[in-house]
Amino acid sequence: MFEKNKTRLLFVCLGNICRSPLAEVVVKAVAAERGLDHYHIESAGTGDWHVGGPADPRSAGKAKEKGLDLGRHRAQQITPDNCNNWDWLIAMDAENRANLLRMGIPESRILMMRQFEDPTNIPDVPDPYYGGAHGFEDAYQMLVANAEALLDHLEQQS
Ligand code: 4NP
Repeated sequence: MFEKNKTRLLFVCLGNICRSPLAEVVVKAVAAERGLDHYHIESAGTGDWHVGGPADPRSAGKAKEKGLDLGRHRAQQITPDNCNNWDWLIAMDAENRANLLRMGIPESRILMMRQFEDPTNIPDVPDPYYGGAHGFEDAYQMLVANAEALLDHLEQQS
């Protein structure tokens, strides 16, 4: 399932249909632009409601608008049984992070998507699921604004 010798990154949100799939394709694109081919990148939700289903059409539409593709996305769940498949878990918000800690994942393997911004900002990518279309543009902008710094941080870890 995983390529050998790759650092395995998992972007994590609640449903794995809105934020983390978008984070996955944004960071994959930035890594590709930088020629960083030693990352295996996926996304997952802490909840099981959408497992096996496609990305939310609003997220897929936002990706398409930005030249990215979420057409093949299928939601998956992170669980205590599979959480060791990934080296780094990147949480979209504080609730996601708390859920990961509750699964027993060590704090040292968990990052927050927005932790590299000005520390006076709230470090959450807000859940756009119940809101309007602007929430998806806002989420996209937050992901783009943090992708380079996240990869810089990860590059310094190995
Ligand atoms: P996501 O958004 O965590 O960014 O994928 C959500 C998607 C679905 C639900 C909640 C949040 N839900 O309750 O089904």
